[in-house]
Amino acid sequence: MNPEQQSNSMTLGRRHFLRNLGLVGGAVSIAGTGMALSGCQPSSNTTNNTSASNTANAANAELGTKDSDKNANPKHAGSDANSSKHGFADAKYEFYGEHQAGITTPSQRQIYFLVMDLHTNDVEAVKQMFQDWTAFAAKLTQGNNIKDYGTNPYVPPTDTGEADNLGAYGLTLTFGVSPSFLTKLGLSDKLPKEFKDLPAFPRDQIRGNLSGGDICIQACAEDAQVAFHAVRQLVRQARSTITMRWSQSGFVGYDTGNETPRNLFGFKDGTANQETLKAADKFLWANEPNWLKGGTYLVARVIQMHLETWDRTSLKGQEETFGRHRTTGAAIGKQAEFDSFDVNEKATNGKAVIPEISHMGLSKRTGNQILRRSYSYSSGIDAKTGQFDAGLLFISFQKSPEQFITIQNALGRVDKMNEYITHIGSGLFACFGGVKPGEYLGQALFEG
Ligand code: HEM
Repeated sequence: MNPEQQSNSMTLGRRHFLRNLGLVGGAVSIAGTGMALSGCQPSSNTTNNTSASNTANAANAELGTKDSDKNANPKHAGSDANSSKHGFADAKYEFYGEHQAGITTPSQRQIYFLVMDLHTNDVEAVKQMFQDWTAFAAKLTQGNNIKDYGTNPYVPPTDTGEADNLGAYGLTLTFGVSPSFLTKLGLSDKLPKEFKDLPAFPRDQIRGNLSGGDICIQACAEDAQVAFHAVRQLVRQARSTITMRWSQSGFVGYDTGNETPRNLFGFKDGTANQETLKAADKFLWANEPNWLKGGTYLVARVIQMHLETWDRTSLKGQEETFGRHRTTGAAIGKQAEFDSFDVNEKATNGKAVIPEISHMGLSKRTGNQILRRSYSYSSGIDAKTGQFDAGLLFISFQKSPEQFITIQNALGRVDKMNEYITHIGSGLFACFGGVKPGEYLGQALFEG
């Protein structure tokens, strides 16, 4: 597991700032939260989430025994468990490090992913924006607002305020730029040859309002309001340089970090990530060009999942679609999720054990590996079909976009899963390497 994991840092966050001002009542303790680590990610040596689940259990027990009508001061409708602090409230990840956080960091439960366009080609202005964003992100991820409040009541408050009494909730902020970013700033000579817009894939139905863009920010946290707040502050401070283009929020659920979370088709999603992480230098981290050292490429795809069609498919059909068993996540014919198997094994009847056109079979046979860090989404009802507008905000990280392209080409033609999904959004971004204190994101690109 990558070391950039959990920091039980005791930095005073915005809640403590407020408490010192006497604005927040109730007990506030800084507990080392054993952050749950999702199995979609690096899961194996990530165990201690005991205190978090104890907190949740205590809260549930209280909910079961109290009569909410008798609660003299309910903080929000239906809640009786107001004295239990959320187990993840004070979880923090280091902002500074060799790589940006939010890549090998275990998936937090919420994501807000935003793509923006530059509306300037003034390199100095964009450089300044990244300098500001670096400083702000360092604060936000530690549970602080980007600036202290001023005292003048006749100007708008410096922070929008919705996270004022909230902890860091394991927030990570990950920044990336697209090929058009470099072109617009006259930096085309720094474009690596593999860094160009993704090609159109078979069956793509990419929508203009869910694709393209110059810059992305991936905000992940254990709390949706904290993630949204962070992005909102970053955008607010950069209004003269960028416009928002598209965004997608999402969620992922799991009880303990030892479990691989399930997607909306009910299957464990992220099992193979462990293999990618074992060979991160080969599959994940870029070492060229110089400005991308320690960075990686991020592919985002908004993939609508046709849940009703899937739900009418037999269990056998579902398992053949993925090449894995639904309950255990094991490869077909195996018992446990991480049991090893030969993807080319033939049964006695000569047929492939892992079906030829199964999703996992096709992906694995390309020999490529990527790090998937996807989130489910549900965005209301699709007006055309009257069905759920739901799916997967697929996010993968890889050393080269070619890894994704090769796999998607293999899947796009024949994947048995295709009849249940439609790719409607797309983006490719280069995520800079991590920064040390005193440096700023993208420095090697602007000054290299
Ligand atoms: C809605 C869309 C998708 C769903 C529901 C989905 C689901 C799954 C599931 C359940 C697995 C098996 C367990 C695991 O290793 O995680 C899997 C494996 C995998 N998927 Fe997807 N996936 C989707 C889209 C994609 C896309 C777009 C790509 C890349 C182009 C991709 C690449 C892979 C890879 C590389 C594996 C691992 C194969 C191996 O075992 O080596 N998936 N996916």
